[in-house]
Amino acid sequence: MYKDRILNAELAQKLMSSEKAAAFISDKMVVASSGFTKAGDSKAVLAALALKAKVDPLKITLITGASLGHDTDAALVNADALSLRLPFQVDRVLRKAINAGEVLFIDQHLGETANLLKANNFPKIDVAIIEAIRINEDGSIVPTTSVGNSASFAELADKIIIEINTKVPFALCGLHDIFSTGEYPNRTEIPITSASTRIGTTSIPLDISKIIGIVITEIVDSPAEIAPPEASTSAISKHLVNFFSEEVKKGNLSKSLMPLQAGIGKVANAVLTGFIDSEFENLTMYSEVLQDSTFDLLDSGKMLFASGSSITVSEEYYESIFSDFDKYKDKIVLRPQDISNAAEVIRRLGVISINTALECDIYGNVNSTHVGGTDMMNGIGGSGDFARNSYLSIFVTQSVTKNNTISRIVPMVSHTDHTEHDVDIIVTEQGLADLRGLAPRQRALTIIKNCVHPLYREQMQDYFDRSCERGGHTPHLLEEAFSWYQILKETGTMQKAL
Ligand code: COA
Repeated sequence: MYKDRILNAELAQKLMSSEKAAAFISDKMVVASSGFTKAGDSKAVLAALALKAKVDPLKITLITGASLGHDTDAALVNADALSLRLPFQVDRVLRKAINAGEVLFIDQHLGETANLLKANNFPKIDVAIIEAIRINEDGSIVPTTSVGNSASFAELADKIIIEINTKVPFALCGLHDIFSTGEYPNRTEIPITSASTRIGTTSIPLDISKIIGIVITEIVDSPAEIAPPEASTSAISKHLVNFFSEEVKKGNLSKSLMPLQAGIGKVANAVLTGFIDSEFENLTMYSEVLQDSTFDLLDSGKMLFASGSSITVSEEYYESIFSDFDKYKDKIVLRPQDISNAAEVIRRLGVISINTALECDIYGNVNSTHVGGTDMMNGIGGSGDFARNSYLSIFVTQSVTKNNTISRIVPMVSHTDHTEHDVDIIVTEQGLADLRGLAPRQRALTIIKNCVHPLYREQMQDYFDRSCERGGHTPHLLEEAFSWYQILKETGTMQKAL
């Protein structure tokens, strides 16, 4: 049975049902699961665990690469089976439980989870569940549509359950590039000098004796929900394309720009789509998530190569990409997330990072995570890994949301994920603010003029003018800086009568 998927005959004895595998997990355990932006996640064992928890109550700590698909987080929350979750999520049910204080959540730079675990600053992983295409003769496993933290989980976990997904084609074998920097104080450099550099192995090495169960699944990844570009997201894309064209004209960038990173969300996807009809050529990506737009760029010939940690695409793209994957095989690599997000490599390659902000302030501080300063949205993801180390750190956002009642540019962000020091450019559909080489008062004037929605521009200018009258290097009226949230709460809009 499954001789082409389990090449080590001894391991075939470990085949079992997902229910039996879930039975290895008990109360208070630390469980790690593959999965990064809904790709390559555990689809059977975690689902079986949620069912088991309904009759046999338990609570676990769950660590992943990033978000899970198939409403797995929701199923675990509904079974009251999660006590602590890290490092990222995008699930509405889990988000509600986190914000109600029912599930604790550690919102972490995605490039840092492996470090946290390896440095023994976190309880040991009891069981890791890893989705794989194949188990090789030597016991090493070939991951599926993501690598995420799976290599670190395999190294650190006491016991391992493998989910062999028979729906993932063998054509993906050879796609992955597994590399470990080793341990402090003797870590090695990461010798990646271009997006396409390969430095490691195509499978995750692991100690066969740790494998306690193998489960077969044939459930494909949850599709990405990618909203088509709309007027405002296309406008953001146009501003960025114009900016890059000007940089090329000035000789600051070549037509192949620098390796691109694009975050999750509809804006980032629209921005990349905008490159298809641009003058740029021979583009590359050094990113985390490879979305639909990456494949459009590869298909159009605009992009030569894309490096990431996962492939997360819509249903329509999934079918066409994976039914003929051979055509992408020499154009894509998937890496562990501590390599795709490594500061050293991002800095060396001169990555241009494009991430989405929930809100920005007039000095260029960015909030990516907390609505109204308190409620978790998704998490910082890899945006901080990239923003801090990029050659150009760009944040995009629509200038308003919720029928214009909320300005996404505010006097002072209600939570700071990326400080002004790490933010070079802010773009809204109104325009682009190039903050490089500007002092705080200049940054504020540029952002107000170029990025704030006209409905809020006058009141923002008024706030800034009155702040400047009071003085300071970064002028503020602290008693008023957060008043826009209060006005929103009281009147249903941040707009105030001037
Ligand atoms: N205040 C209140 N609500 C806000 C808001 C604000 N300042 N800004 C956005 N929202 C709401 C929107 O109205 C929308 O609500 P809805 O779901 O009810 O329609 C929701 O938040 C999402 O906003 P939207 O503009 O549609 O988001 P997006 O899909 O472009 O994603 C982020 C934006 C910031 C949530 C997303 O990019 C993210 O999670 N980023 C952090 C992680 C990251 O950057 N990773 C990068 C590496 S992968």
